Formats: sequence, structure tokens, C-alpha cells
Amino acid sequence: MSKLAVIYWSGTGNTKAMAEAVAEGAKGAGAEVALLNVSETTADAAASYDKLALGCSAMGDEVLEEAEFEPFFQQLESRLTGKNISLFGSYGWGDGQWMRDWAQRADDDGAFLCGEPLIVNEAPDADGLEQCRALGAGLANA
Ligand SMILES: Cc1cc2nc3c(=O)[nH]c(=O)nc-3n(C[C@H](O)[C@H](O)[C@H](O)COP(=O)(O)O)c2cc1C
Repeated sequence: MSKLAVIYWSGTGNTKAMAEAVAEGAKGAGAEVALLNVSETTADAAASYDKLALGCSAMGDEVLEEAEFEPFFQQLESRLTGKNISLFGSYGWGDGQWMRDWAQRADDDGAFLCGEPLIVNEAPDADGLEQCRALGAGLANA
């Protein structure tokens, strides 16, 4: 059974709701899943999982949240080579530029991106939650 962590940052709960659904999908596909707020973990601990689903909303001006998530991801980047990961997050008024930039970084780091990076406008609706579950299941099966 693969060990998978879903690690997220969420200001108002939108990406958290996505993370819960990603975790549900991964569990349903048979993975052993840890669901963690980024404040509860470290890059070292994250790197020890076989697979990672990483979630962060669009913050600042189309960037990752800068106080907690960006430093965490920076420390993780050198450990992503060859790792199966999925990216997700909620956004507001933008067009998803933060996620395109994030996915490019992960690709440059040598990570293997499972599924299209998943973005949802504000709170996920039923369809958005279903897409999150599918993302988690796809990562578990990768
Ligand atoms: C300080 C701040 C900066 C934001 N910057 C962006 C942005 O650059 N682009 C965007 O599309 N949405 C932006 N948003 C909107 C959030 O990404 C959006 O409300 C999202 O649903 C929040 O998800 P969360 O509850 O998981 O943090 C910003 C929101 C805040 C509070």
C-alpha cells in the first residue's frame, strides 16, 4: 500500500475542503493517507511519503501563500525528483496563473505530476469535490 500525504494551506477553508476530498478519493483507492495542514508538518517529513498531494490557494499577487506554504515548498523542492505528486487549490479573481507557475516549478524540480493541476473558484461545489476525489484516486493509483 502506498503512503500518501495530502498537505495544504487554506485561509478560509476552500482549499481545506478540496484537501479533504482529495484524501477521501485517495483512501477510497486504497492508499494509506495522512491529511495535514502545512503548519503540522515539515519538508523533511513530507519527503518521506511515497506520494504527495499539495494544496494551496492563490495568494498575494498570483503566488503561493508566503508565510508558511512558500517556505515549506521551497525546502521540499530539491526532494521532489521522481516523486509522484498532484497539485490543487482554490482561487478568486485570477485566471489560475499561480497554479501554472507552481506546476512549472514542480516540473522543473523533476516531480511527476499526476493528473492536471486542479483549480476551483472559491468554495468547491459538488462537481469540484468530485474532481478532487478523482485527483486523489488517480494519485493513489499512479
Ligand atoms: C490576501 C489574499 C490574496 C489573494 N490573491 C489572489 C490572487 O492573486 N489570485 C486569485 O485568483 N485569488 C486571490 N485571492 C482569493 C483566494 O485565492 C480565494 O478566495 C480562495 O478561495 C481562498 O481559498 P482558501 O480559503 O483555501 O485560502 C486572494 C485572497 C486573499 C485573502
